[in-house]
Amino acid sequence: MTDEQFDDVVRKMDLEQKVRLLTGATAWRTHALPDIGLRSIVTSDGPIGVRGQGWDERSTSLTLPSPTGLAASWDEDLVERLGALLGDEARRKRVDVLLAPTINLHRSPLGGRHFECYSEDPLLTARIGVAYIRGVQSRGVAATAKHYVANDSETERLTLDARVDERTLREVYLAPFEAAVEAGVWVVMAAYNGVNGATMSENPLLAEPLKGEWGFDGLVISDWGAVRSTVASGRAAQDLAMPGPDGPWGDALVAAVRAGEVPEEAVDEKVRRLLRLASRVGALSPDDPPSLAELPVSQAPDAQGGYSALGGPHPGTPTDAVSRALLREAVVAGTVLLRNERSVLPLDAGRLRRVAVIGPSAAAPRVQGGGSAGVYPVSSLSPLDGIRDALAGRAEVTHAAGVHLPSRPTPLDLGNARNPLTGEPGVLVRLLDAGGAELHAEHRLTGRILEPALVDSSATVEIRATLCPQAGGVWNLAVSGWGHVFLAADGTTLIDEEVERDTDDPATVHLTPPWRHASLDLTAGREVELVARRRLDPDTGLASVLAADPPRRGDAEELAAAIELAKEADVAVVVVGTTEEVESEGYDREDLALPGEQDALVRAVLAANPDTVVVVNAGGPVAMPWREEVPAVLLSWFPGQEYGDGLARVLLGDAEPGGRLPTTWADRALIGTTPVEGVLEYAEGPDIGYRAWLREQAPPAYWFGHGLGYTTWEYESVVAPELAEPGRPFPVRVRVRNTGERAGGEVVQVYLARPETGVRRPALWLAGFARVEAGPGQTVEAEVEIAARALQHWSPNDRAWTAEAGSFTVLAGRSAGDLPLSTTTATGETSR
Ligand code: BGC
Repeated sequence: MTDEQFDDVVRKMDLEQKVRLLTGATAWRTHALPDIGLRSIVTSDGPIGVRGQGWDERSTSLTLPSPTGLAASWDEDLVERLGALLGDEARRKRVDVLLAPTINLHRSPLGGRHFECYSEDPLLTARIGVAYIRGVQSRGVAATAKHYVANDSETERLTLDARVDERTLREVYLAPFEAAVEAGVWVVMAAYNGVNGATMSENPLLAEPLKGEWGFDGLVISDWGAVRSTVASGRAAQDLAMPGPDGPWGDALVAAVRAGEVPEEAVDEKVRRLLRLASRVGALSPDDPPSLAELPVSQAPDAQGGYSALGGPHPGTPTDAVSRALLREAVVAGTVLLRNERSVLPLDAGRLRRVAVIGPSAAAPRVQGGGSAGVYPVSSLSPLDGIRDALAGRAEVTHAAGVHLPSRPTPLDLGNARNPLTGEPGVLVRLLDAGGAELHAEHRLTGRILEPALVDSSATVEIRATLCPQAGGVWNLAVSGWGHVFLAADGTTLIDEEVERDTDDPATVHLTPPWRHASLDLTAGREVELVARRRLDPDTGLASVLAADPPRRGDAEELAAAIELAKEADVAVVVVGTTEEVESEGYDREDLALPGEQDALVRAVLAANPDTVVVVNAGGPVAMPWREEVPAVLLSWFPGQEYGDGLARVLLGDAEPGGRLPTTWADRALIGTTPVEGVLEYAEGPDIGYRAWLREQAPPAYWFGHGLGYTTWEYESVVAPELAEPGRPFPVRVRVRNTGERAGGEVVQVYLARPETGVRRPALWLAGFARVEAGPGQTVEAEVEIAARALQHWSPNDRAWTAEAGSFTVLAGRSAGDLPLSTTTATGETSR
């Protein structure tokens, strides 16, 4: 539809109709308006998969590596293909708007959603984000650049005021959003926090530069619950308030318009943008209503190269085998090899007899981070299973966790619970009315029920299960939820308590309410009937969880078992990591230490076997006090469903680890995330990440950009134009030689510096990068395109981008801390 047609439609609508469209109809959908042929638009979280509407374990999702893992690939082509895969997933699940990518920055490694953002560097974030957006939108599904802007940490995230100077905003935090808009993103999400005095859903930054200077013609959606006013947000360039159906707009906004407090033109503009989005995603067609029924992922590739046609205007759904191969490729591409002394890696499968796979994350890894980004993976392969599969018939693989991590109770699952009514593995969930009569009953696959299928007059959620204890001893039973919670075992009440809600943060309210515990001595094989209930009082959210954890072996015994296995093995692979309590939406980290006794475990295993490889399963930096002692360290991030397969390929040398650090890896944080009296000063200006460490004049553990492959490279020469034409991109040519004995890939990085300058600048900044591949002994030339913007800075006085005349140093190498080549390029005149 054309803009004139949108105007026409808007002109014919009355105020009530228009305003109604501007608040969600449900938590995830917009209102339909059949009179104008508009169906409901369906949104879903991302970024690592398409969860679909709501939270339901029966709706599984292809699960990508965490955004840090994607950015670690430095591979835009791969990320675009993964974006397209998500676009297809969205179509399969009848989703129109994917609430991703998150393009906030790693201002501090303590940030709870660090795993969900790409990088500390604005250029790398922009390029990976744009590739993702291109991929998703190639399938007719809207991507959402979020959270606009300066939502870089979680402490007091709903209310904090980030104070950021204008140059830093433009050059660092707004830069990825500007690139997303330039790439044609259809939706931008306004953040919870404020910037420089105004909360983002009312902030002037929505108008300028977003919609004005940058020309963003898409929709500004709110973060969930971020619209808190009627007039201020109604007047601002905030278009759609989510979730619904309630909220501060509705009738109040109609009244505000009538009272002249909000111009009707502001409402019209919001509606126009909603219609434009509807037209883009195909929602202006009454014949194409979204169906809640999902289409199955087909099981095998078809003759057309792996896509099964769904019919209709949309491309097909990738088949399982094809998507899994792509997801495995992503794991390999994002895995970063930090250290590889004595060339311990790759392991020589032909010479291995026994491999000890140790660590709490070896059998129970985290394939994704916590919070609204969570999905239910289609499948999930642990490092232990991946290594076992890869070495089947060749070597014995042994396992011990070695330590117990402090973590939340484990919801009942198919392995330990049966539906008492049907006997099937799983649980029975019932909705009861105030008198206790059953309104609805259904079979579920987990004891973690986040969004039950509510029916009118539902007053209580009940979870019933037959627990089948495989081990005897004292079990920890637990229930989670706000409001009144209850648990009984075989008719005996164990928990009967009121849990008062003490937070407004949606991630905590809806996903991680507090726990109440009870201990119960059980006999192995003797089943017990559990009944958990939670009253659905107002404002207590929807989540109800029933969990059970078996007795575990003592800490000393656990460690001794791991040490014994390490001694008997040719090589020990220790998988350590963070837990959901440490890295998740809704809170920041206190420090970078690995939880529990994992550092001691690494050292104990190393003492037992010098051939120890440590694999870190975390979304962001963790301190590694043993890092100079172990011969090899791999980072696998939260790698998504194909973890085990991808990791085994890297360990055994079937593929090279492709990743380079998208964020500085340090043992401590130079920048904190705690606001003071509601204000978070971005006092460091543009100097975050490697720039902060350069200013500090101290080396971090590993520099931004660092990562080894299985071959070695020599940087031979760099050539840049003497004079860069104002406002034009220019090429930097870098020759590198593969000096090793294997074919391999390298990410050639180009940074700029300006030693003599009249403006404040970082010591150096990433200006471009290119991936190259070469066989042993071969030389290749990387052509790295440098955008004109790389030479420019934002001038608050001129309110424009400007290039300082004179000479810039051009540095080339393999990380911000290893730049063996340099040359210069000059800008002749001040350019805009
Ligand atoms: C998060 C968003 C997310 C939304 C919907 C919010 O709490 O900040 O990233 O898209 O919830 O789940």
